[in-house]
Amino acid sequence: MKKELQTTADGSHTLFVPSLDEHYHSVNGALQESQHIFIQAGLRQTGKQHIRLLEIGFGTGLNAFLTLKEAETNALHIHYYTIELYPLEKSLTVTLNYGEMIWQEWKELFDALHKAAWNRPVNITPSFTLHKTEGDCNRLEFPSNIDLIYFDAFSPDKQPEMWSRELFDRLYTVASPAAVIVTYCAKGEVRRRMQAAGFTMQRLPGPPGKRHILFGRKQH
Ligand SMILES: C[S@@+](CC[C@H](N)C(=O)[O-])C[C@H]1O[C@@H](n2cnc3c(N)ncnc32)[C@H](O)[C@@H]1O
Repeated sequence: MKKELQTTADGSHTLFVPSLDEHYHSVNGALQESQHIFIQAGLRQTGKQHIRLLEIGFGTGLNAFLTLKEAETNALHIHYYTIELYPLEKSLTVTLNYGEMIWQEWKELFDALHKAAWNRPVNITPSFTLHKTEGDCNRLEFPSNIDLIYFDAFSPDKQPEMWSRELFDRLYTVASPAAVIVTYCAKGEVRRRMQAAGFTMQRLPGPPGKRHILFGRKQH
């Protein structure tokens, strides 16, 4: 899949996939979007210090890097599982400006996320373990006792197979009591499928350029 580097409205980069006519993030601001949805609406709502997190779609590593910074600055302990079917080439990841834009003093930690080996846990810092798995989330078995899910697949119009009731059922099964799921997509159909899987769903205000996002919680 060919990808093109683009700059979004807040100055942060994203990737565009011409064959899908799809961006990895919002063109209104990739960094703003990830911070709003995954950190503010997701990570900060778990109420936990020790968190087992599962991300669908590692991609550029933007969510992982924001999560790492949040963990290091708030004494959180995170085991970050992430699944990616199409890992990015190094020639692309080294051009991304997230290191400088998000955490200049520790920008080498952004490179560390990409350099980390696949398919095994790697300690990025003493309190942040990254476990990237290369493969299809519709085929792989998920880790268990997950406290937080970042659902960051390409849009349902472009990749409907990523937004199925079956996949949400599997995520619900591995979610721990009171686990949180967040996604940028606020489509009614997606909300109903997540709800049918068992999550209690809410629409929350979105980042600039997006009216709503979805937040869900597994009941105790
Ligand atoms: C919207 S992008 C977001 C990625 C990432 N969270 C980021 O911030 O860059 C969706 C990601 O899902 C990945 N993906 C597509 N199909 C997949 C599949 N079947 N299993 C796992 N990942 C997949 C894509 O390659 C892409 O990296």
